Amino acid sequence: MEYLIGIDIGTSGTMVLLLAADGRIVDTGSQAYEFEMPQNGWTEQDPALWWDAVSSIIPELLTKNQIEADSVKGVGIAGQMHSLVMLDEDNQVLRKAILWNDQRTAKQVDEINQIVGAERHIELTSNPPLTGFTSPKILWVRENEPEIYAKCKHILLPKDYIRFKLTGEYVSDVSDASGMGLLNVKERTWSQEILEDLEIDPALLPRLVESVDISGYVTEEAAKITGLAPGTPVVGGAGDNAAAAIGVGVIKDKTGFTTIGTSGVVFVHSSKPSTDEKGRVHTFCSAVPNEWHLMGVTLSAGSSLQWFRNRFCQEEQMIADERGVDVYQVMDEMAKEVRPGSDNLIFLPYLNGERTPHLDPNARGVFFGLSPIHGKPQLIRSILEGVSFSLNDCLSILRDLNVDAETMMLTGGGAASPLWREIIANIFDCTMNTCESNQGPSLGGAILAGVGSGVFKDLDEGCSKVVKIKSSFEPENQEHYSKYYQLYKDLYPALEDQYKKLSEV
Ligand code: XUL
Repeated sequence: MEYLIGIDIGTSGTMVLLLAADGRIVDTGSQAYEFEMPQNGWTEQDPALWWDAVSSIIPELLTKNQIEADSVKGVGIAGQMHSLVMLDEDNQVLRKAILWNDQRTAKQVDEINQIVGAERHIELTSNPPLTGFTSPKILWVRENEPEIYAKCKHILLPKDYIRFKLTGEYVSDVSDASGMGLLNVKERTWSQEILEDLEIDPALLPRLVESVDISGYVTEEAAKITGLAPGTPVVGGAGDNAAAAIGVGVIKDKTGFTTIGTSGVVFVHSSKPSTDEKGRVHTFCSAVPNEWHLMGVTLSAGSSLQWFRNRFCQEEQMIADERGVDVYQVMDEMAKEVRPGSDNLIFLPYLNGERTPHLDPNARGVFFGLSPIHGKPQLIRSILEGVSFSLNDCLSILRDLNVDAETMMLTGGGAASPLWREIIANIFDCTMNTCESNQGPSLGGAILAGVGSGVFKDLDEGCSKVVKIKSSFEPENQEHYSKYYQLYKDLYPALEDQYKKLSEV
């Protein structure tokens, strides 16, 4: 049997997945780690954590499953997007990586908008500059740590640092590079104009490949550490969302997926690089060669419900422990007793500010319409509905751009809730499917490796061997939610100025 390896360099841990050529997931291994918050709004991580994880999980997986090194035909890496890794001329990491969720670069984003021009930035890169993206992080280091910038010879994204450790090559793939703020996403090349405007030397940047292309081969040194065979091909791989799309079979127009994890993502595949003029959703290169995807991100999705559970659901936790079930199941059952609309209660899930569609770090959570009839069941249901409304804001922008999905996969921890699945299907007015495996980016990475190494003929074959639908939810009563969604949409504009004032109090 031939095997493939998919790696996901996540923010809270690294996962490695072993896939057999017949489409079976043989095993997975993971290692958790944390990120540091050296100051309010700053997030950093030592790249050594990622390499330590990869170099201990791969040999363990191979040994445990008695897999011969030369039966592994390819490796595909996925990972957290946008985070900045800098290497010196000896390939030593110069500083901890500045992560995608770091918010220190508001000033640099303003500078980029001034230098490049806000509209021109969207024309050139298909996206506005955002604090999370890589280019403002590069400017921040140049302005605040000039001695480090002067020594920097290579700029890489997290998964590309791991590729460098495996193959010695400085390469990125176009899907991950799309989130750097430096890529001409339509042309799939670095934007010379942006690099000139921002005075970033193109020699610092990696070579670009498509996600299925072979980017390099495992070196003798990396082979000794990982137990892989020297010469094993490593494909371009993809940013975590683009890789997750492959892992749930989203490779064609009219298909998409929604993730309810810590944050929420609405992702729709597109054979054209359609762009929102207002920059409210991201247009990135897809892991499918020469195609694209559009996506919106809501920052507090599963984390809104997690917040409520942690703060207010000790009693439910005790009930769940007695029954031997998950506390979210108990919360789900409580919310199911409440009618759609949560008895006129609307939740705005902006606990940590919001990305799509408001791009507002000052926004905060709201329960609107509280009355004495409301108890925990209504509050829980309104959280499920509010997060779904926020995800629907993302989808509505995509639909306005004619990038729509007839069916969507639902992934992430929230997909385990039958009630949440039903609410989303109704609010989106779209068939929502779940699939057998919820392995996301690492599975996508392994499928990409299969295509690049010739184990699979193409992505169609790889996805159809691997991705199996588990359950399907048809929309039934969208009109129940339409008035509440309209009210939900009216609330943010009414509060925008107050959010700013609150942040300045
Ligand atoms: C995508 C994004 C996150 C990161 C973290 O734009 O910011 O999904 O990739 O995993």
